[in-house]
Amino acid sequence: MTTIFDELLRAFRDYLVGRDAAPVRDFIGDMAWTMPERTLEANTLSCLRHLPRAAELAPPAEQELAGLLAGGAEMLHWGQTYTAADFGQHFIDNYGWVELFGTRGHFRNETVAAGFLILGPGVVYPDHHHVAEEIYIPLTGGAEWRMGDGDFRVRRGGEIIHHASNVNHAMRTGDEPLLALYLWRGGDLAQKSTIGAAGTQGAL
Ligand SMILES: [Fe+2]
Repeated sequence: MTTIFDELLRAFRDYLVGRDAAPVRDFIGDMAWTMPERTLEANTLSCLRHLPRAAELAPPAEQELAGLLAGGAEMLHWGQTYTAADFGQHFIDNYGWVELFGTRGHFRNETVAAGFLILGPGVVYPDHHHVAEEIYIPLTGGAEWRMGDGDFRVRRGGEIIHHASNVNHAMRTGDEPLLALYLWRGGDLAQKSTIGAAGTQGAL
């Protein structure tokens, strides 16, 4: 029987393989997509209410993946790295991620972690960084992303955003939610991000 987990992993693979972009190829080029499954209990979060709208907003190439996620989200083990003490209650009510595969995801992978991030409207995810190298691909356009000392700029759905190890990054949403997929490799794949600019003391 094909489960939502299998379907998501297949759609995730098909989407990334279809992108044919250098940083993505570098991450997944020699990846074994047959990964042992890990049984995780469903854990829902308030931010899942934004998924139907995110699936509507997704451009054609991102529709299948966003739609599958929206349809099966209640079965998945959603998590949060932060608490209200970090960025406030509005952030916590509008933020969450799920690891599809990795050291703690629905499938086991010790070298690459991957999953999805949701941010609801009107959210600022302040500067943070982590040892892991990261690729984000927004499945919805319109959110603003900042990297290093650069300015915030609007990214389209399907753009590839590559953060090198320990490079600072931040996101902020306007009137619409953000749904993005992510890939992580290097360092501790379950590391909590460090908040604040790189080089000061302050993961996904
Ligand atoms: Fe990150």
